[in-house]
Amino acid sequence: MREYKVGVVGATGMVGQRFVSLLENHPWFRLTVVAASPRSAGKTYREAIGDRWAMPTPMPKAAADMVVLNASDVQAVAQQVDFVFCAVDMKKEEIKALEDAYAKAECPVVSNNSAHRFTEDVPMVVPEINPQHIEVIASQRKRLGTKRGFVAVKSNCSLQSYVPALHPLMEDFGVSKCLVCTYQAISGAGKTFETWPEMVDNCIPFIGGEEEKSEQEPLKLWGHIENGKIVSAQSPAITAQCLRVPVSDGHTAAVFVSFDKKPTKEQILEKWANFSGEAQALQLPSAPKQFLHYFEEENRPQAKLDRNLENGMAISIGRLREDTQYDYKFVCLSHNTLRGAAGGAVLLAELLAAKGYLE
Ligand SMILES: NC(=O)c1ccc[n+]([C@@H]2O[C@H](COP(=O)([O-])OP(=O)(O)OC[C@H]3O[C@@H](n4cnc5c(N)ncnc54)[C@H](OP(=O)(O)O)[C@@H]3O)[C@@H](O)[C@H]2O)c1
Repeated sequence: MREYKVGVVGATGMVGQRFVSLLENHPWFRLTVVAASPRSAGKTYREAIGDRWAMPTPMPKAAADMVVLNASDVQAVAQQVDFVFCAVDMKKEEIKALEDAYAKAECPVVSNNSAHRFTEDVPMVVPEINPQHIEVIASQRKRLGTKRGFVAVKSNCSLQSYVPALHPLMEDFGVSKCLVCTYQAISGAGKTFETWPEMVDNCIPFIGGEEEKSEQEPLKLWGHIENGKIVSAQSPAITAQCLRVPVSDGHTAAVFVSFDKKPTKEQILEKWANFSGEAQALQLPSAPKQFLHYFEEENRPQAKLDRNLENGMAISIGRLREDTQYDYKFVCLSHNTLRGAAGGAVLLAELLAAKGYLE
């Protein structure tokens, strides 16, 4: 695989910092540009970050001395890179306009933002689940009038634990309905305990927009392409409650599920153990070897112990048992800023590179 020059737009934020860390030793992608708001532009990355560095590993040396560009100077960024990752905290319409501007400057965008997730010709992809959706990029390029520019997005972090667990069960058993409660880490709001002390010893029963995303986005992932657009699936019906909990990293989900054809517990465990997707088949550098890990211990998965499994890219599942109202219930966990954000986007970019979309 050839080397690709990469920019991170929103490089100073929580997700942006993850991108900068993940790109440090990436075999295909080399960080060449960091961009953020006008507040950071013109400073070195180290100066712009100040005391905001929130990663467990030190700031990569190569990034520290880079001068931060203004993300709105699209041409200046685009001409130095083969594609950009984007994770910015701006209004939805501003994000859409910014991402479209990069795409129209023939610079592909792999985005963490939610702004374009329901644009019909923008693929929203978890590489193990719906890699075929990247084919809709041909229609998007027609609409934008571009040769190589496009926007591809990853889905919301909350669903990255339970959708992978449900997916392998759908074809043979038909998931009819699902109730999910998520317990979401504070890094999902771009925060640490230092910057959000109110979260110590606390639990907040509201995350703006999260329940709608948790219910609707899975249906786009399970949708199909028709006439150059992605048409969302009609089922399963999902209802969600999302809570913010005092955990630094790692979103947990408690899941209740019913099937058209109720499987045995052994059949479910077998499907999880044997499931792998395109990311594993293509041996993408960030793909976990075993996507779904089942823990037999009653007190697992735990955010603190299990979020970093396979570099934070695997999904942990546990406590599968029959339920009195639904067929089964279980608990799952995924790392929200790795699999759920920057890591998931890097994996998507690897899929796009492997399939020739970044040439
Ligand atoms: N955290 C997660 O787990 C997670 C998961 C999935 C998706 N996301 C999404 O990813 C995006 C970023 O989240 P985050 O948690 O990383 O946010 P964050 O820590 O608040 O960082 C926001 C970034 O956006 C930049 N920015 C703000 N205003 C800008 C402007 N006008 N022009 C250009 N850049 C601007 C900031 O630059 P300055 O430093 O210069 O202000 C910073 O780099 C959001 O859309 C969020 O919904 C986050």
